[in-house]
Amino acid sequence: MKRALVTGGAGLIGSHLADLLRREGWRVRVLDNLEPQTHRHGRPAWVAEDTDFVQGDLCDRATIAAALAGVDIVFHQAAYGGYMPEITKYVHVNSLGTAQMLEVIREQNLPIKKIVVASSQAVYSEGAGRCPEHGLVFPPVRPVEQLRMGDWQVHCPVCGAVTTTAPTPEHAPIGGETVYGLTKVDQEKLVLLWGKQVGIPTVALRYSCTYGPRQSIFNPYTGVVAIFCTRLLNDLPPVLYEDGEQTRDFSFVEDVARANLLAAESDALDGLPVNVGSGRGVPIREVAEQISHALGISIAPQAEGEFRPGEMRHLTSDTERIRAAGYQPQVDLAAGIGRYLDWIRGQRDVRDYFSEAADVLRRKGIVQRVARA
Ligand SMILES: NC(=O)c1ccc[n+]([C@@H]2O[C@H](COP(=O)([O-])OP(=O)(O)OC[C@H]3O[C@@H](n4cnc5c(N)ncnc54)[C@H](O)[C@@H]3O)[C@@H](O)[C@H]2O)c1
Ligand SMILES: [Zn+2]
Repeated sequence: MKRALVTGGAGLIGSHLADLLRREGWRVRVLDNLEPQTHRHGRPAWVAEDTDFVQGDLCDRATIAAALAGVDIVFHQAAYGGYMPEITKYVHVNSLGTAQMLEVIREQNLPIKKIVVASSQAVYSEGAGRCPEHGLVFPPVRPVEQLRMGDWQVHCPVCGAVTTTAPTPEHAPIGGETVYGLTKVDQEKLVLLWGKQVGIPTVALRYSCTYGPRQSIFNPYTGVVAIFCTRLLNDLPPVLYEDGEQTRDFSFVEDVARANLLAAESDALDGLPVNVGSGRGVPIREVAEQISHALGISIAPQAEGEFRPGEMRHLTSDTERIRAAGYQPQVDLAAGIGRYLDWIRGQRDVRDYFSEAADVLRRKGIVQRVARA
């Protein structure tokens, strides 16, 4: 029987992954500190009673060492995510937490057979674009001065022409243009290069926007589907940044769990960063409209020229690499939104935490507004 540690296993992706692994006959241990912003009521009901559940902080050396004992494969999902203002906390949990976990494995010579780490499409700058003149290009992040003028377009780095979006392959430049993105780069690079040094197979899965049942309804800083739902259920308009025409690639959480299982069981992806997505870009405005239609709540989304510096305009994952290894997403956006709504209807305390958070983000400059002429 294979034995797994799922860090962050009480969260959205980790909990679905833990369920899938158990169904596949694995023995699963979960390490999660139940981050209060995500889990306002403590241990969620979906962490089954009989789970080998360690409530503790990944960053605590003794805790992670104990959690790793007797494990074959680590699925490292725990992270601090989204657009929050705490710079130190991102670096501490995501970068240092990962570094220390690797150090413990090496120091104690633990017989770990593979590490699958949750990376993100946030590692890409503007992703890939297509220039009418220069073909496939990788534009740098749009300067904040441009965004302040309300110019949302992405320009060719060679000639400055406006580009159209193209699926972003794994060989696109990475760097991270937000603090979160930067720490996801740290995580994946640490794991991949460390794995090569010590001879342990590793895979970094660059997830696209992932959503589905169990996505926190309390965390106003991350999860656009959850945020739009909680806004609408409170009779408030979803807030669109820029003009709402930016596109994202969405993955249903059960598909992402399957991608993790594939990465663990196949050796085709070892040593690689791997996009996990649908391969389809959807405008954010359309996501808001789909949700309001499905809920039967007709409140138009609101776009008032706010933007988040460092956020990419378009990102669609080029999923050729993972598809070649046998991955096939099974739940499309419409079906997935339906599944999320079925779940959220059964939740109590569906409140709006976004308005307050938005004020904080404005004050800290994480959300800005176009300069008025
Ligand atoms: N959801 C997405 O759209 C998305 C996209 C790209 C990448 N990711 C990555 O996927 C992973 C899982 O994300 P998710 O959407 O399930 O988020 P989530 O917030 O639902 O789950 C993360 C879990 O990690 C736990 N955690 C946080 N800090 C911890 C710590 N110091 N010690 C132990 N546990 C800790 C939280 O309590 C939570 O249960 C993260 O690494 C995230 O960066 C998510
Ligand atoms: Zn060009």
